[in-house]
Amino acid sequence: MTQSSLHSETVQMPLLPIVRDVPALRRKVGEWRAAGERVALVPTMGALHEGHLALVQGAAQHADRVVVSIFVNPSQFGPHEDFEAYPRTEQEDAGKLTAIGTDLLYAPSVDVMYPKGDVTEITVPIVSEGLCGAARPTHFAGVARVVTKLLLQVLPDIAVFGEKDYQQLQVLKRLAKDLFLSLEIQGFPTQRAEDGLALSSRNAYLTAEERQLAPLLHKSLQDLAQSLRGGAAAAPLLDAAKEALCAAGFGKIDYLELRAAEGLAPLERLSEPARLLVAAHLGKARLIDNIAV
Ligand code: PAJ
Repeated sequence: MTQSSLHSETVQMPLLPIVRDVPALRRKVGEWRAAGERVALVPTMGALHEGHLALVQGAAQHADRVVVSIFVNPSQFGPHEDFEAYPRTEQEDAGKLTAIGTDLLYAPSVDVMYPKGDVTEITVPIVSEGLCGAARPTHFAGVARVVTKLLLQVLPDIAVFGEKDYQQLQVLKRLAKDLFLSLEIQGFPTQRAEDGLALSSRNAYLTAEERQLAPLLHKSLQDLAQSLRGGAAAAPLLDAAKEALCAAGFGKIDYLELRAAEGLAPLERLSEPARLLVAAHLGKARLIDNIAV
């Protein structure tokens, strides 16, 4: 984001360039790189909300230019998940990105990302297992595959991801380290509604009544964190919290766990910097959340 684009925002909105193929992307990013500018990438699947936009604005603090990608990645959805139903709102998204002065929108098609014959897979074992990896066994391989492609297409200096998807962030940090990627993977705090519900594209699936109940997820994490700080064993507290969520009206709790903040090893009690992570079904939505402890 340059001074001139910020300045012109108040006078006339600069047009947001949209590129859909790799040569056009590389030309544009190549120009910035040749001028010595630092480039950030914010990968998304679109349906942008304030959480995504905060990420883009956060990225702008660390770079001269911000590229946002929008790609609903088929390889990270399981066979019975919501790939087809996932909201696709490119025009509105482009409007929101223009308003905050994004430098480039990269919106490739499935054929660009996965051309005929594409077979290479990327898996990041251990950190991808358990938590969301248990209910979605192919999910993180799909995320790792598409993010590796995006990083190699854009070659940014920094890529920014939300802590909202904490396991995803840990998987991508591991991947970048293991593959000696010459860039920084930066986590950004979860943006929440006033009542504590983590902002998510999938909140749109909630009915008005479910939306009222949804903040209880974050509240139970906060209460649990408080109880764990005394050094108590985690398992009974976690079991009681799961029961309370179900009694309040949540459906299946996929997991509610205490894990090490770095590497996500399971913890029996609070013995090191940790993370409480939860995934719970509410109506048609599967909500995830996590907090530092
Ligand atoms: P998506 O769900 O669109 O999220 C894009 C980015 O926004 C992710 O880094 C996610 O963690 C972040 N994000 C979502 N909600 C947030 C919130 N409330 N506060 C802060 N950040 C938030 O995550 C994906 O897409 C995909 O898996 C992707 C990485 C793009 C690969 O396909």
